[in-house]
Amino acid sequence: MFNQREALDKVLAKLERTSSRIGDSVPYRTTNGVYDDLTGEIDWWTNGFWPGILWLAYRETKNEKYLKLANGVEDKLDKALQEFYGLHHDVGFMWHISSVTNYKLTGNENSARRGYIAASVLASRFNPAGPFIRAWNGWNNEENTGWAIIDCMMNLPILYWASEHMKDPRFYNIAVAHAETVMNHFIREDGSVKHICKFDPVTGEYVENYGGQGYSPESSWSRGTAWALYGFALSSKYTGRKCFTDTAKRIANFFISHLPEDHIPFADFKAPAEVNIYKDSSAGAIAASGLLLLSRLVEDNERDCYYSAAKKIVASLYNNYTDWEGDEALIIKGNVAFHLKDTNQLETSLIYGDYYFLEALQQLNGTQELF
Ligand code: GLY
Repeated sequence: MFNQREALDKVLAKLERTSSRIGDSVPYRTTNGVYDDLTGEIDWWTNGFWPGILWLAYRETKNEKYLKLANGVEDKLDKALQEFYGLHHDVGFMWHISSVTNYKLTGNENSARRGYIAASVLASRFNPAGPFIRAWNGWNNEENTGWAIIDCMMNLPILYWASEHMKDPRFYNIAVAHAETVMNHFIREDGSVKHICKFDPVTGEYVENYGGQGYSPESSWSRGTAWALYGFALSSKYTGRKCFTDTAKRIANFFISHLPEDHIPFADFKAPAEVNIYKDSSAGAIAASGLLLLSRLVEDNERDCYYSAAKKIVASLYNNYTDWEGDEALIIKGNVAFHLKDTNQLETSLIYGDYYFLEALQQLNGTQELF
């Protein structure tokens, strides 16, 4: 049974309880119903999602409690901006979903400033050879100056926003150039997706690709595939470019046609069956939200295919991947990197899974504005 209004109300009721319990902490995952708090690791890439969830709840309920808590987390994130060295390509996840959303909903100029700083950090990672936006940093002396990753497609909206907000096309042009490189090098003919591609950082020449959080260089990590699906749908929305819509469709068709019976993907679409035994609920949630956006970008006769696939995914998450009575996060059974066999990171809740589950539910209930 799945009723989208009832489902959204149930999520909002759970968030009411959860927010009273964890307040303006900086959660990432739950263990036995207890949320962690990453205030001490403030540059971690997922730290914008809890304020993001609070803003989605605020939009729905206008409850001032959510506004206060979201502002509280956003203030904590300032430390990461000030320290700078820990920042990476995921500043869009961190400040678009928190600060830019705050600005859009409340007009908070301080939040717009934070969004603009984050967009400037992201733009500064652009390598015109390639061209691509550099992923990560050289942590542990790793030589990764030429690496770009599929996840970064989801960070481009902060560049599109900054371009519009500052009336400065540099940001837009960087986002489009990166998306074109990803389209040409990461997305295979069948719509499957590579996680990490390496370019020569001096000449820009394509060198090779790595499996990353997927099983192998030849496989298709399901969350990465979901990031790509949603990321290209977003670039299509912001630019109107048909090549981005077509790329999103190609990925979506691959994603949908490789879903198992319960509509929630295994952690990799192309790993050998004997190792590919874990589902990733977060990939399902991200893809569902992206499919709902895509259903509004395509021709009339294509809409239903993407809309109904999204609805089936959300219904399955709601019925099979939740813990309504307990204190776990909204959706359970996500995976960080399944093949590393780190049991601590398998079958766990992930804060971004919750964000996109709620966002998808809001879209199913008629909301069209995405932050
Ligand atoms: N962006 C990292 C991940 O999806 O796990």
